[in-house]
Amino acid sequence: MTTDAARSTVLTNIGMLVTNDPGAGAGPLGLIRDAAVVFDGGTVAWVGPSGTAPSADAGHDLGGRAVLPGFVESHAHLVFGGERAEEFAARMAGHPYAAGGIRTTIEATRSATDEELHANSRRLLAEALRSGSTTVECKTGYGQTVGHELRCTRIAASLTGEVTLLAAHVPPPEYDGRTDDYVTMVCAEMIDACASEAKWIDVFCERGAFDRDQAHAVLTAGMARGLIPRVHGNQLGQGPGVQLAVDLGAASVDHVCYTTQSDLDALAGSSTVATLLPAADFSTRNKYPDARALIDAGVTVALGADCNPGTSYTTSLPFCIALAVRDMHMTPDEAVWAATAGGARALRRDDVGVLRPGARADALALDAPSHLHLAYRPGVPLITDVWRSGVLAYS
Ligand code: NIG
Ligand code: FE
Repeated sequence: MTTDAARSTVLTNIGMLVTNDPGAGAGPLGLIRDAAVVFDGGTVAWVGPSGTAPSADAGHDLGGRAVLPGFVESHAHLVFGGERAEEFAARMAGHPYAAGGIRTTIEATRSATDEELHANSRRLLAEALRSGSTTVECKTGYGQTVGHELRCTRIAASLTGEVTLLAAHVPPPEYDGRTDDYVTMVCAEMIDACASEAKWIDVFCERGAFDRDQAHAVLTAGMARGLIPRVHGNQLGQGPGVQLAVDLGAASVDHVCYTTQSDLDALAGSSTVATLLPAADFSTRNKYPDARALIDAGVTVALGADCNPGTSYTTSLPFCIALAVRDMHMTPDEAVWAATAGGARALRRDDVGVLRPGARADALALDAPSHLHLAYRPGVPLITDVWRSGVLAYS
């Protein structure tokens, strides 16, 4: 066994390999039974049947277990202070979720030290890795002043290259009743201050947060600074988020729980990914998205865990896969694809979410003979090994 990316490693005796490369194996997941994979210098060097694998500096016998590409988490809010367990308990006792809870976390984030925010976000990133997530997007959104958003953007940038400036999450308390003024400040100052540290611009386009025009203003200001749009939309009710995302060519619209036929048609005719976040719907007793209608209409679907202290305090994509299969009627293959290749599409990446020569050597092994067990054995910690860039990062 090796943990050294500079040396080559061959994984042998893989019972079932998910490549997500339809040219390499069976079906959309490119499944290969009795497979081997070679990692070299941080990338995948070779994929194929076990018996024909080239030799490498080191070997790792999987004993018939399944290997998948590492999960690609395309929706995470990891930079925040405090937590909201009491709010969760109240919700389970019948109180509805309202976006206003976000202000509790804005207050806690503003009062946290840099060290506390760094430590909390690193803890969650490590937790996500243990659940198999090898690429993780990270949003700001709990600062909502220029200074605090800049601080959160820098902390996010210390964790990942997939940094999202969620400049407009909810209007903060000092802008109560003055949402347009907040949007003006974001467009005139906040985006300029933070854009160089981020790749994406995001907005919560929902009743109680930002309307279509406000969200449009924030996203286009971000685009003018080179950021690529993504949208939180249609989470709590029908609304303009999906259409706005499509109109602006957003990489992804996330949540998508309440959709009309014209939302489905717009998404189906676009390259915008629908990122479904079932753990948020689970933890808020919200309506799940109609994943079947989206997939059957030809929409590209990703799954994210949406880790945040309000709606979804989990980093576990295996849990989301189980929910997607049980409650959203996705097939296990569709759910596994959505958490790997789908997440990569949502982040416009072609080097992750796939195991083919040249891709990043990010993979996970299960204590199970196939990927079906991720949904079949919910709540069981099946992930035994995780490689990032060819390095065994968790075992
Ligand atoms: O993705 N929807 C908006 N933002 C988060 C929730 C944030 C919170 O409640 O703190 C989400 O669900
Ligand atoms: Fe979110």
